[in-house]
Amino acid sequence: MHNTPSTPVPLLHIRALHKSFGSNQVLRGIDLSIAPGEVNFLIGPSGGGKSTLLRCINFLETPTGGEIQFDGTRLCHEDGSRFQLAPERTIRAAREHMPMVFQQFNLFSHRTVIQNIVEGPVVVQRRALEPVMAEARVLLDRVGLLDKADAYPAELSGGQKQRIAIARALAMKPRLLLFDEPTSALDPELVAGVLDTIRMLAEEGRTMLIVTHEMKFAARLASTIHFVAGGVLEESGPPAQIFEAPKSPRLQGFIRSIME
Ligand SMILES: Nc1ncnc2c1ncn2[C@@H]1O[C@H](COP(=O)(O)OP(=O)(O)OP(=O)(O)O)[C@@H](O)[C@H]1O
Ligand SMILES: [Mg+2]
Repeated sequence: MHNTPSTPVPLLHIRALHKSFGSNQVLRGIDLSIAPGEVNFLIGPSGGGKSTLLRCINFLETPTGGEIQFDGTRLCHEDGSRFQLAPERTIRAAREHMPMVFQQFNLFSHRTVIQNIVEGPVVVQRRALEPVMAEARVLLDRVGLLDKADAYPAELSGGQKQRIAIARALAMKPRLLLFDEPTSALDPELVAGVLDTIRMLAEEGRTMLIVTHEMKFAARLASTIHFVAGGVLEESGPPAQIFEAPKSPRLQGFIRSIME
């Protein structure tokens, strides 16, 4: 009997992904796979396409070419030379399982913290309010903010808002969490609390794809780091390769520039 370990089926599988805005080709053929339980990071220079890649993965932007498979379901693909999108309901169902946490939190300002958290499960997933409220309180406790359940977002610090945004994403029972620079809008003293929350999620085995400029954090937590520049995934590898033995000259230049 052979005892070959089977390759884990990726949760997210992307091949030759393209995105253009008019004549501006922003993503030029991205290949990327994430296995369940992995924490992947996207790093790279401003304007390189990191946010666009994240937004295409959960269809906040519609890709213009290539293939995305999520949890074994094809959301878009090329059929010969024709680019095809999955039916809208298929895409909508997949999106619920990969919520995004934004730099600017995007909480509803006229709703309390707990109302923000239960909105997705109740309105989008049509789950019953009572169990969702109970779960929301557990999530609030986990991010250390149970006492803020009835506060409004304006009464919270940036770091607290971001932890609420993370709790709101978790309330959807996501398979994949997407983060776009979750700490970039925060005062320096508030960054650590949000990074600790993300670290706790990694320890729980959550699958995550995180855009960040926090290189030390990425180095400590990443299974794989992807360097995106000019709409291309220039290099992917474990932190030791990316930071200490980068192969691509462009990545070597980027690492030099952030060390200065
Ligand atoms: N909605 C849009 N319409 C037109 N062009 C866009 C749009 N969104 C992004 N772009 C362009 O796509 C390119 C990549 O932008 P993107 O925001 O993905 O970069 P990024 O790597 O996230 O940069 P940063 O580190 O500054 O956040 C930029 O040239 C940008 O102007
Ligand atoms: Mg961005």
